[in-house]
Amino acid sequence: MGDDWNDKNLSKKRAKAGVIGGLPVGMKFDREQGKKLQNFLEPLCIEFYRVLKPGAFCVVFSQRRLYHRSTMALDLAGFEIRDLLGWKYEGQAKAFSQNHFIKKDKKLSEDEKQNLIAELEGLKTPQLKPQIEPMALAQKPKFGTFVENWQKYKVGLLNTKETLDGKFPGNIMEVSKKSRHKETNEKIEHMTIKPVALISHLIRLFTQKGQIVLDPFSGSGSHGVAALENERGFIGFEIEKKYYDISLKRLNKTISR
Ligand SMILES: C[S@@+](CC[C@H](N)C(=O)[O-])C[C@H]1O[C@@H](n2cnc3c(N)ncnc32)[C@H](O)[C@@H]1O
Repeated sequence: MGDDWNDKNLSKKRAKAGVIGGLPVGMKFDREQGKKLQNFLEPLCIEFYRVLKPGAFCVVFSQRRLYHRSTMALDLAGFEIRDLLGWKYEGQAKAFSQNHFIKKDKKLSEDEKQNLIAELEGLKTPQLKPQIEPMALAQKPKFGTFVENWQKYKVGLLNTKETLDGKFPGNIMEVSKKSRHKETNEKIEHMTIKPVALISHLIRLFTQKGQIVLDPFSGSGSHGVAALENERGFIGFEIEKKYYDISLKRLNKTISR
């Protein structure tokens, strides 16, 4: 969402939940936001490309309105865009009624206000209940065929025995947001904490035991917990000491289990 992501800014936004810059959340359109995100991601994607083995996967969580920007950054770095994945969760309706603005409009008479409110009954800002967080599934180009690449690097194929629902794994992955609290058994440790069950599923789909998972924005360390639980190695980067400490605690707890 820009390069001003830090704990202080987030806390300020949280305090004013529901309204950002006088506009309802999700309604603030700033074309520069998408460009800034892509500019931020482009050099990172070049580094992801550099450190991954041929055929290895890179999964980038994004935001529905800015997904195309993250995908472009991956594409420009040389990755093949393999799929659009979606984390499906319960969602919470966020669309806003216009009644408040109509009532405050000095240009309208009381009758006009009542008529307009009646006319707009059920009509709200264009925000469907968000129930999906998109991810770009990118792959570093392979060396030769899938088999040749596998023989050389042991990556590049999908583990189709891995499933969330007993069926062939699909690109829509339904995992409850509520499972996050059960896992940590504590209060929410991070504003955007991911369910370990979801990350475990991704890790089992795209990597093998003993391989290394990299999360360059690791927050409270959910990806590390999932990696260790699935017998993978883990490298994480986290800029905020507070979240780094939380992730260390969670990783140590996972190791001692
Ligand atoms: C979306 S959150 C990750 C949440 C994580 N998936 C979890 O389950 O807790 C992104 C994290 O990236 C961190 N971050 C932002 N810029 C960073 C940077 N340049 N280097 C390392 N971490 C950074 C933020 O502090 C934040 O905790």
